[in-house]
Order: sequence, then C-alpha cells, then structure tokens
Amino acid sequence: MPEAQDWSAERYVRDAGFVATLGAGAVEWLAPKAGERILDLGCGDGALTADIAAAGATVVAVDASADMVEAAKARGLDAHRVDGEHLAFGPEFDAVFSNAALHWMTGADAVAAGVFRALKPGGRFVAEFGGFANCAAIVTALFAAAQDRRLPAELAKPWYFPTEAAYADVLSRAGFTVERTLRFPRPTPVPAGMRAWLEVFRAPFFDACGADREAVLDKVVALLEPSLCDEAGNWTADYVRLRVAATKPA
Ligand code: BEZ
Repeated sequence: MPEAQDWSAERYVRDAGFVATLGAGAVEWLAPKAGERILDLGCGDGALTADIAAAGATVVAVDASADMVEAAKARGLDAHRVDGEHLAFGPEFDAVFSNAALHWMTGADAVAAGVFRALKPGGRFVAEFGGFANCAAIVTALFAAAQDRRLPAELAKPWYFPTEAAYADVLSRAGFTVERTLRFPRPTPVPAGMRAWLEVFRAPFFDACGADREAVLDKVVALLEPSLCDEAGNWTADYVRLRVAATKPA
C-alpha cells in the first residue's frame, strides 16, 4: 500500500510544475492517436493528460490524491480518485500512460497486473518514472537525517526506483512483451529551491520531526548544498529516469 501523502495541487503546480513539462519525451513514446481510449495512471494535476487529450484521444485520468483529481477536473478532464495498486478496469484501453507516478507505488507487480487487465489485447503501456539511483544524493541526506532522529528508513525513502532489468521482469511477470527500456540521468533544475522540493515531496518525513521540523529541514538542505546547489544558488535535483514501453500480446 503506498504511503498516504496529502498533496496540495496548488503548491505542486507552483513548486514542481517541471514534472509535466519534462514528461514530454514519454508522451512522444506513447504517440497518442485520435480516437484512442487512454488511461493516464497518476495524472497529477492533469497537465500532461490535457496534452494527450489534445491529440484527439479520450483520456481517463486517475490519481490517488483527491486534491490532484480536483485540479485535473478543473481542467475539464475525466478524472477519478483511484489507488494504482488496485486498478479495477477491464480490457477497455488502447494504451495506459504514466509519468512521474510509478515510483510512488511500491507494489509494482500489483500495478503492472492492473495495467495489463485494463488494456485491450495489443494495447500498449508507456511509463516514465524514477529509475535506479534516482535522487541518490537526496535519499542519502534523508537517510542521514532519519538515522539522527531514529526514524524508519521507509519514511526517508518511500519510493521505488528499479533498474531496467528489474522493471522488465515486473512487466514480463504481468504478461507484457517489453518493447523498449531506457534509463538516463536527467538533472532537473528546481527553481523553487531544495527546501521547497523537500516540503512538497517528503512532507511526512519532516512532519514526523515535530517541533524540530524546521531544524531538520535546515540540516538536510545543508547536507545537499555542496552537491546540488551551484555557485549562483541554483538547485538541481539528481533525477534519473526510467522510460519503458511494453505491449499486451494481441
Ligand atoms: C521523481 O520524479 O523522480 C521524484 C519526485 C518526487 C519524489 C521522488 C522522486
């Protein structure tokens, strides 16, 4: 079961708007066509979903966060609150797409099985998310803070960042034919700064620090500064992407 995290769609758009902008390469792999029925798994605020719909596809958008679903609905999208590890769709989609969401779903086999069930025979699954070594510096700094505070490791790193081989195995176990996998570093500018990134993406960790919340945030930011902040004060997150394309046999 993925960790429950309260998302503020407004804050997400303000401080993490790059997530959708940088997902365009995955949409290229999807190559949505007019008339197709496509499921967007982990749609966030629906920015990329809207791009896919603009290609003429009918898109059903799902996300585990109520706030994100409301934001997607505000764009006029058909959005629903759904847990990605318990997808209950039958074989009704020509394609399933997912950007920057699967690393939040640690039950990867359950997710892949649900995606497989949701696809028509011959349907395709295109996803991009954090791959092995994603956010390595950030994770290490969070682990250091977790050790200091005697907090559980899962609170520091609730994410799933597999290698290409490990995720190809997940897809194969679900019944997919793996067409393409690509793992690549994608250093990602964070204009709002690392403190904002940590507050948006790892709020439960800092909330668990109680009255010391701000001091622990200061410490993690200070640990990261030598590696992720340049001389001009610009922050870059050490993202590594895993992009995959797979098909359900016809
Ligand atoms: C990512 O897109 O890689 C990511 C975003 C938030 C937390 C962890 C990873």
